[in-house]
Amino acid sequence: MATFDLIGSSPKFQAVLTDVDRIAPVDSAVLIQGETGTGKEVIARAIHEASPRRHNRFIALNCAAIPGALLESELFGHERGAFTGACTQTKGRFQMADGGTLFLDEIGDMPLELQPKLLRALQEQEFERLGSNQTVRVNVRVVAATNQELGQLVGKKLFRADLFYRLNVIPICLPPLRERVQDILPLTEFFVAKFAARLNKHIDLIPDEVMAVLKAHDWPGNIRELQNFIERAVLFWPGPVLRLPLDLRQPVKQSSERASRTLADADREHILETLKQTSWLIGGQDGAANRLGLPRTTLIYKMRKLGIETRRSPRVRPIRQLADEQRHAAASC
Ligand SMILES: Nc1ncnc2c1ncn2[C@@H]1O[C@H](COP(=O)(O)OP(=O)(O)OP(=O)(O)O)[C@@H](O)[C@H]1O
Ligand SMILES: [Mg+2]
Repeated sequence: MATFDLIGSSPKFQAVLTDVDRIAPVDSAVLIQGETGTGKEVIARAIHEASPRRHNRFIALNCAAIPGALLESELFGHERGAFTGACTQTKGRFQMADGGTLFLDEIGDMPLELQPKLLRALQEQEFERLGSNQTVRVNVRVVAATNQELGQLVGKKLFRADLFYRLNVIPICLPPLRERVQDILPLTEFFVAKFAARLNKHIDLIPDEVMAVLKAHDWPGNIRELQNFIERAVLFWPGPVLRLPLDLRQPVKQSSERASRTLADADREHILETLKQTSWLIGGQDGAANRLGLPRTTLIYKMRKLGIETRRSPRVRPIRQLADEQRHAAASC
């Protein structure tokens, strides 16, 4: 039984859930691909929860969030003294996930030089900790996810073909929300109920015209964007009827326009759109990171990777200007 909610009644999402049930009992590696916010981590957890491994741990590691030099130690652990600062022997995520599932998120960011060691761990279920020549044996199922086109990375020699095929034993493609419009109503109802309860509000009605706008919207940030959007709507509108914040009233894109775009294009466009809405403010309550539901550092990392340069937000006043303003305010008291 899943300990989290999996909402969606569309045939495409139901087909994914059928796949989850079918593949959960076996130990083969799974590769989940899909645009940002489509629910890759949610599906990885669902596979674990439906599997005989559910009594052991689900360990997640975001390969993009950890500097390449530290990733090997994070994955495989290290011996005391293996490198400067390694004061104690430490288990890696592979060992922590023994008997359970290891979720390798953003696998496309796995450094090339580390890929052979990961391949061996996947195939042989054994590895050595950094600084040790003693082999550690484990029993781990690996589920990997990416919002990059891994096949294209293989073509560009940025990802090893042998590792790609080893991970891609069972591929799962999560369709973007705009291709499963039928899920928007149950997801909206679910998020409205969730945030209303959390914010101690009562929302009884989602008007048809509001639903029509939500269904027509493109949702480049997929379920995460819808979730954040509903949270804002519930937070800002008083009264029992759900209303739309202004930023959704923008032209709806045609799906044909999207067909030729890569996952990275979709990510870039969504991040740029959110940055525009927040006047390039990244951190803080009103910043883009918060709206996207990402840690600030992850957003900055993604921006760098997608070639989006940071700009000074007009909403962030220089520290000196702030200090001057405070001095003036104090003087005029
Ligand atoms: N089917 C679903 N039902 C309810 N909530 C969902 C569903 N799918 C995703 N979510 C919610 O949407 C948010 C994004 O999901 P998740 O983190 O799994 O996406 P992701 O594809 O891993 O995104 P990213 O590529 O940015 O890492 C989470 O808050 C998750 O709880
Ligand atoms: Mg994720």
